Amino acid sequence: MVAIKLIKPSYKWGKKPSQIVTKAVKYMPPGNILDIGSGDGRNALFLAKLGFKVAALEKDLASIQMLKLNLKQAKLKVKIIPEDIEKFKFNEPYSTIIAISVLHFLPKANMLKVINKIQNYTSKGGINIISAFTESNPSKNFPHLFKAGELKKLYSGWRIIIYKELITLPEKHGLDGTFHRHSLALLIAEKA
Ligand SMILES: C[S@@+](CC[C@H](N)C(=O)[O-])C[C@H]1O[C@@H](n2cnc3c(N)ncnc32)[C@H](O)[C@@H]1O
Repeated sequence: MVAIKLIKPSYKWGKKPSQIVTKAVKYMPPGNILDIGSGDGRNALFLAKLGFKVAALEKDLASIQMLKLNLKQAKLKVKIIPEDIEKFKFNEPYSTIIAISVLHFLPKANMLKVINKIQNYTSKGGINIISAFTESNPSKNFPHLFKAGELKKLYSGWRIIIYKELITLPEKHGLDGTFHRHSLALLIAEKA
């Protein structure tokens, strides 16, 4: 007999949108949004609910499956791009590009190429919203941890709306996660 595992809609990284995304809403110009490394969709769903046209780019098939279930349950539409951002070829600009907790998964040279692509494919007057781990992150097990000020420097020439480095309160992810802190660089910047 074949065992069928039923998958229920769930949010591995939480259901609430990231604070930096909720803060950025008032700076988002009209237009389409790309959420890179969308996971199971907390930010993409939040923005779709506000009426934005959102595309979610994600390389992990399990996360994409969960994103589809979450969209179905919420009766929302988001374009799903099942790709690796490192290989993704942009064919249109976006007015807002989001990368929450993704860029530290890329080795530095690849991260720099991705930021360059993101910046080139952001419309003039559009914004980027980025959250990434820094060198003081308690867990060091990531291909690239940002140095103090590094992310902000990559956005010189853009109008920096918010730039902060901070350590989060203890948080846990998923059902079996344990409490831990993250050390983050947070950025909202507008393309001049
Ligand atoms: C920590 S999770 C954050 C998910 C989501 N941004 C959020 O805030 O809930 C990081 C996500 O980035 C995805 N990711 C990592 N590297 C990626 C890549 N090169 N291309 C696309 N997605 C990637 C992972 O599969 C994972 O779903």
